Amino acid sequence: MNLTVLDHPLAKHYLTVLRDRDTEPEVFRAAARRLTYSLVMEATRDLRLDECPVDTPLEKTTGYSLTPVVAIAVLRAGLGLLDAVVELIPSVKVGFAGVQRNEETAEPIEYYFKPPDLAEASVLILEPMLATGGSLSWAVRKVIDSGATDVRCLCVVAAPEGVNRMNREHPTVRIFTASLDRDLNDRFYIQPGLGDMGDRLFGTT
Ligand code: URA
Repeated sequence: MNLTVLDHPLAKHYLTVLRDRDTEPEVFRAAARRLTYSLVMEATRDLRLDECPVDTPLEKTTGYSLTPVVAIAVLRAGLGLLDAVVELIPSVKVGFAGVQRNEETAEPIEYYFKPPDLAEASVLILEPMLATGGSLSWAVRKVIDSGATDVRCLCVVAAPEGVNRMNREHPTVRIFTASLDRDLNDRFYIQPGLGDMGDRLFGTT
């Protein structure tokens, strides 16, 4: 299985803040950003590097520079992870993927897709809630069709239903999450989950 579940006390702490129904949007946004630092560190653990010489104050040694990274924020909840990605990888190029879900079937309905050049890049898809997997699978298909070959997904919480769908439809794509939760309810929300990520980020509950 191409799933990595973070095992870090800070990630567990910030996930708990996100899960808490009483967490206000301002604190929620900060916790999402802080948790994303851990997701980014884990997802980029084996990122390709270019070697480059560097002069320390004492001598010349080998340094490393990042190869191109693209982040695709799945609107709108993916925006909650974007600040942390940009802060850790300032050279990142950012694209956006707009998808609505059909409330009855939970299948994705595309309304916007604008990626930067993906050909040589490692692509991080920011989709915080991996529920049925419909949106994430759609976003992965879009970036692959646009030329991406190295695709990694950052999800705050994942449900087994979504992970299984990703394994069926995109078995080589890696998923990084802070928690593999129990299941989905009849409205396709993750349980125990944290509610509607977009509403909680943007105070629209
Ligand atoms: N999207 C959310 O914001 N929350 C869920 O639990 C599932 C999908």
